[in-house]
Formats: sequence, structure tokens, C-alpha cells
Amino acid sequence: MPLAPFAELESFYDAVPRLDARAEAYGGLTLFVRDDEGFPYYARPAFPGGEPTAADLRAVRERQRELGVSQAFEWVHETTPGMLDVVERAGFTVLRAPLLVLDGPIRVPEVDAVVRVLDPEEAGFLDDVAVVRTIAQLAFSSPGTGTGETGPRDRDALLPTVTPVHVPKFRYALAEDSVDGAVATGMTQRAGDVAEVVGVGTLPSARRRGLGAAITAVLAQDALDHGVTRVFLSAGSEDIARVYERVGFRRIGTACIAETE
Ligand SMILES: CC(C)(COP(=O)(O)OP(=O)(O)OC[C@H]1O[C@@H](n2cnc3c(N)ncnc32)[C@H](O)[C@@H]1OP(=O)(O)O)[C@@H](O)C(=O)NCCC(=O)NCCS
Repeated sequence: MPLAPFAELESFYDAVPRLDARAEAYGGLTLFVRDDEGFPYYARPAFPGGEPTAADLRAVRERQRELGVSQAFEWVHETTPGMLDVVERAGFTVLRAPLLVLDGPIRVPEVDAVVRVLDPEEAGFLDDVAVVRTIAQLAFSSPGTGTGETGPRDRDALLPTVTPVHVPKFRYALAEDSVDGAVATGMTQRAGDVAEVVGVGTLPSARRRGLGAAITAVLAQDALDHGVTRVFLSAGSEDIARVYERVGFRRIGTACIAETE
């Protein structure tokens, strides 16, 4: 029998970092530590059922300081409600991100661009991954959902400086229009039968044309086509959550993120 969404997500959150990091146990918390150059991970409630205490939090922070990584914690509020108080009492500001699951048919908006999922077997794959990374970097440097001037010229200037690193757990999508080329991107990361949509970003000059929604829809469909039975994501804000709701995602809870340098 399939697990209820929160149990399924918790199992996923515990499995994904283990694909490229090792887990260190600190009572009710698990800290994922990378030995490669990749982006450092956070600590999460131990799976299953970890109930982090203030002492666990202190122990992890000490270890994060020792490792020279930022003090980062992530958890799902509905699964570990007691963690919010522990983290806030330690002085962190907590981002409460809407947590959504795909629920029902996917609605793909009509857009004036072609959206494709990159095929790792195809020639030019790594060049396309570099484009994905470049667009994501520019999109996330302009947070929010508003349009702006950053566009294809900035992409072309930044692209040669980006080293494409492909991580096998990811699948990538690009939206390309006939005038500007690639302008929006996103990825899924998968563990078992669960996939999370991450890194959806549109160049500010190409926003508000449906491309973020189209990327999300195509990635979600691709995951289902490859045997995934649960697709979910967390949205950086209520405004961003609307983009995903239009595609067919439904809010089920809150993903909490706390971080200090
Ligand atoms: C969030 C983000 C990916 C959305 O990308 P986008 O391509 O602008 O997304 P969409 O066009 O699908 O939707 C955005 C808005 O445009 C509107 N829109 C969509 N198609 C439209 C059209 N043809 N004409 C006018 N408006 C349109 C949507 O209704 C939505 O409006 P709303 O803000 O009132 O709800 C983009 O703003 C971004 O890159 N932000 C920074 C990075 C980030 O935070 N990513 C998400 C991480 S969770």
C-alpha cells in the first residue's frame, strides 16, 4: 500500500542526500555531510520519527561550524511540529515554504516556446546542462515573480564561466523560444518512486508568459512517464505557489528552512 504523503516525503528527504553525502547522527537530527565539492547539505529530523531537541541542534551547529558549512536545517512542519520552536528559540529566522503535491491531471499551459527534457544520451547534453545552470543562477539572483531586464545577453555572458556538472539523480528541462533561445529551466530529483521539482527559474525578461508553469508541467509529466508515483515541490513564497497550483499541484503543508552563515 502506498505511504501517506508525509511519510512518503520524509522517506524521500532522508534518501536523496544519501545519494551523494554521508549521514551523521546527532540525537533527533541527521546531518548530511558531503566529501565532494558539491553544495553542502542541511540537517533534518532523523528518519523516521526524530524529535530534535535544543541540545541536538547545538551539537549539529558545532559540527557545521567545524566543517565550515552554513548552519542549515530543513524539515516539514506537519511531520515534526516541535522543531519550529527549537530552531526559533536558537535565534534562526525560519522560511515557511508552501509544500505542494501533484494532485490530479497536469495542466500544461500554452506557451510561445518549446519545452524539452534533456536526454543524457544525446550529443550536446552537457552543454545544455551548462545552459540550465546559467539560467538558474540568473533567475535565482532576481527573486520573486516580477519581470526585469536580466535576459539572454546576460545568459550568454555568464555561460562560458559555468562548468556543467551533471548529477545522475537530476533530470533537466529547458524552455526555448525562437527569438531568445533558452529562457527558462527546472529540474527534478528522484529517489525511489518519488520526484521533487526543484530549481524552476525563468530569466526575468521572459517572466509572466507561462514558462515557469510549462517547465513544471513538463517535468512532472516526465517523472510520471518514468514510473514516479509521487511528484511534489516546495515553493519559495505564496506568489510562487500559485504558479504550481495552476499546473495541478495542491498545498498540503509547510516546508521549513532555517539557515545562518
Ligand atoms: C517563479 C518563477 C519561476 C515563475 O516563472 P514564470 O515563467 O514567470 O511563471 P509563469 O509565467 O508561469 O507565472 C507567473 C505569473 O505570470 C502569469 N502569466 C502566465 N502566463 C501569462 C500570460 N500569457 N500573460 C500574462 N500573464 C501570464 C501567471 O498567471 C502568474 O501570475 P501571478 O503572479 O499573478 O500568479 C520566476 O518568477 C523565477 O524564476 N523566480 C525566481 C526564482 C524562483 O524563486 N524560483 C522558484 C523557486 S520555488
